[in-house]
Amino acid sequence: MSYLFEPVTIGSITLKNRIVFAPASMGRDALSWYEKLARGGCGMIILADLSVVPSLFGAPGLGSMQYADHFRQIIKICHTYDCKVSAQLFHPEYDIRLIRELYQTLGQTDPQKVRQALNDSIETFCDTLTPERIHEILHDFELAARRAECLGFDMIQIHGDRLAGSFTSPVFNHRTDDYHTFWQFPEEMVRAVRTGALHIPIDYKLTIRTEDPAYGRGGISMDQVPEFVRRLERCGIDSFHVSLANHTATGDTIPMANHPYFTGEACFSRLALEVSRHTAKPVCCVGKIQSPEAAEELCRGGISLIGMCRQLIADPKWPNKVFENRTDEILRCLYCNRACVGALKGGRGVSCILHTNEEETL
Ligand SMILES: Cc1cc2nc3c(=O)[nH]c(=O)nc-3n(C[C@H](O)[C@H](O)[C@H](O)COP(=O)(O)O)c2cc1C
Repeated sequence: MSYLFEPVTIGSITLKNRIVFAPASMGRDALSWYEKLARGGCGMIILADLSVVPSLFGAPGLGSMQYADHFRQIIKICHTYDCKVSAQLFHPEYDIRLIRELYQTLGQTDPQKVRQALNDSIETFCDTLTPERIHEILHDFELAARRAECLGFDMIQIHGDRLAGSFTSPVFNHRTDDYHTFWQFPEEMVRAVRTGALHIPIDYKLTIRTEDPAYGRGGISMDQVPEFVRRLERCGIDSFHVSLANHTATGDTIPMANHPYFTGEACFSRLALEVSRHTAKPVCCVGKIQSPEAAEELCRGGISLIGMCRQLIADPKWPNKVFENRTDEILRCLYCNRACVGALKGGRGVSCILHTNEEETL
């Protein structure tokens, strides 16, 4: 019995299947990527890293309506293929006002200094925010959520890493006021988003630090999962997207084939399964999911949504090929990170080393 192609309901929306393109900043050519992914058959695409404040390098975000047409176009294209679109909202984990000023004065002459200031800011930003500034940021979330709903996004994903990841982790959060708990800021963030977007579901990208062995710096620990899930549900969260916590170590959250620990398929499934034990809401598992067999097994084990990022970049037609029993035609991701993650680091658009003759393979 196949679960993968059964519809699944999240709050007020229903996806045609359980396959989700996990959030990935696509850089240049994003529009044509989303078209390929939607045409390839996935049930939902999550548009990554949409900042709730105007971003540093002018990446499309929801800090204003500047990119409204761009988003409307993506949503329209995806809907043509009955593919839902979610907006991943985040606030940077560093002081964007400070870094913007530095970038304007030193960006050309001393970019290294700006990079260093940004890294330093990540370590301290959460602790130095005044309650007034936190309330401004929460208001930014509310406004961005309202813009997302107005533009026709089907869902909002709150990015539980980035600034939220700092607030949830004792590595960054040394506050002594109300915001010292791992739940206060996320709870207020969810409420703010709910105030802004009244009708569409809200998903939370829940990021977990593991202790044995230790991976991830932001995010909550495994033993905090039950309380965190319960609290977010009470604030109105409709689903969870579970991953390893980040903060500077993308080599772990986007693990390559030769990663020392996250080696096999569905490498973060332990985390997602733990979350699913504490909620009846849909849970999305992500991390090196590649074969239909592994995806089906996760669905049988209580996971409602299958998040795939690099495998769908390698072969956006994966869903249709699986549905049509053409699995031998699937281009298998090598998890080399060269043209996807590598391209982003180099400031180029995402691509894949398997697409030497793109028109032929896609
Ligand atoms: C090129 C690239 C960019 C990514 N950008 C984001 C991002 O902006 N936000 C996010 O939450 N995750 C991002 N991710 C992480 C993915 O959503 C996913 O969690 C990770 O790649 C593991 O899934 P996979 O093994 O299926 O690729 C990115 C991944 C890749 C490969």
